[in-house]
Parts: sequence; C-alpha cells; structure tokens
Amino acid sequence: MSRGRKTRNQKPETRSVSAAHRRRVLALILLVSGFWFLVSCRQKMAVQPKYDPLEPSDFFADGMSARPRIPGTVARGELPLEGFLVTGKIGNDDGDGYPFPITAAVMDRGQERFNIYCSPCHGRGGDGNGMIPSRGLRRPPSYHTDALRNAKTGHFFDVMTNGFGAMPSYAVQVPVNDRWAIIAYIRALQLSRNGTINDLPPAQRAQLSGGAP
Ligand code: HEC
Repeated sequence: MSRGRKTRNQKPETRSVSAAHRRRVLALILLVSGFWFLVSCRQKMAVQPKYDPLEPSDFFADGMSARPRIPGTVARGELPLEGFLVTGKIGNDDGDGYPFPITAAVMDRGQERFNIYCSPCHGRGGDGNGMIPSRGLRRPPSYHTDALRNAKTGHFFDVMTNGFGAMPSYAVQVPVNDRWAIIAYIRALQLSRNGTINDLPPAQRAQLSGGAP
C-alpha cells in the first residue's frame, strides 16, 4: 500500500471489511435494478399482434388483412368536383349568376361571413383598406373598379376557392354555399356605390327629391 493511503486510513483491516461489504451491497443493487430493467423493458407497443400493410390474413374469407372501403365513403381529395355550384365554372369558363336563389337570409349570411373572413384585408366596404394590409400584406384591389364590377360571379368563386396571387385560398374556412352568399353581398357592396335615383321605388324617389312623403 502506498504511503498516502496509509495516512488516510488509520485501520487497514476495518477498511477492507467495510469495502468488501460495500461491494456486495452494490452488486445486489445492480442485480435487482437490472432485473427490473429487463422486466419493465417489454416493448408492448412495438411487439404487438398486428398486420403490416397489405399482409395476407387467414382470418378474413378473402385472405386479405386490408379491409375494403365501406360503401359510400370518399377519401379526402377524391370527391369529384363537378358543376357550377362547387366549381363556379360552366364548361371551362367562369360562369355568371348564382346556383341557388339569393334571399334576404342568404344576403345576411353573406354579410356576416364577409365581415369575418374578407374584411380583415378587403375592408368592410370592400375598398381594400383592411387592417392586415395596413400592417404589411399586399393591399388588395378595391371591389369598386370596373374590372371587378364586370367580373363574373364565377371569378369571385374561383378566387375564394383557389386563392389569387398574394391571397390564400379560403376554401377550408368558407364552405361552398357561404362562398356564393359572400359573392351576393359583394355585389350589394358594389351596387351601393353605383346606385342612381332610378333604382329606388317611385315613392322613395319622391322623398329624396324633396317631395311630400
Ligand atoms: C389575408 C388577406 C386577405 C383576405 C382575408 C382575403 N383577401 Fe382577397 N385579396 C387579398 C390580396 C392581397 C389580393 C390581391 C392579390 C394579388 O393581386 O396578388 C386579393 C384579391 C382579391 C380579389 C381580386 C381578384 C382580382 O381579379 O383582382 C377578390 C375578388 C378577392 N380578393 C376576394 C376575397 C374574398 C371574397 C375574401 C373572403 C372570403 C377575401 N378576398 C379574403 C387579400 C385577402
């Protein structure tokens, strides 16, 4: 033994006994914890009875583990989109008009949806001065231009469905029927800037031009 260790341990016998004892305790701890490690390490999730994709199976009569689709279910992205209602197109071109009658209830719905989903950028009046462009996004065009006044309803449907330049698609947030309701409301916004006195019923015309009510 080196001089240094002797000075530190005054009683060599006691020390070696307790060292042997410590080693035994340590070995016991290692053994017990190793046992628990082995027992607790069963990979129940990874090693489970299951079929790999398209693996054969003798459980089902057709011999396949993959089950056929339940009739009538449609996978995401596989729904054929055809017709004016869901595409806004007639043939390959933007259609005009509406696929269902525009009632006061549809207009109200359009106003509500427009104010939620479009006005943050396009502004409540459709001038393109919403809050978001004021913070840096490209400023949308006003709806009150000749180009957009003359644009077909199918064009608006297409812009909402597929996006347009810097504007993202709103197909997820705005379901098909709501898109048409929003278009009807945008048309009302456009008309509101271009109305003439002749658009009023005769009784109200008289009121405006200062006649007796
Ligand atoms: C996040 C901001 C934003 C929102 C919300 C938004 N738009 Fe836009 N929109 C834009 C921008 C920006 C443009 C111009 C894109 C460009 O020219 O690159 C635009 C352009 C348009 C145009 C003009 C297309 C053309 O022919 O010039 C229409 C129509 C339109 N949006 C309709 C809508 C409708 C309807 C909604 C609500 C469902 C809506 N937008 C929601 C930002 C937005």
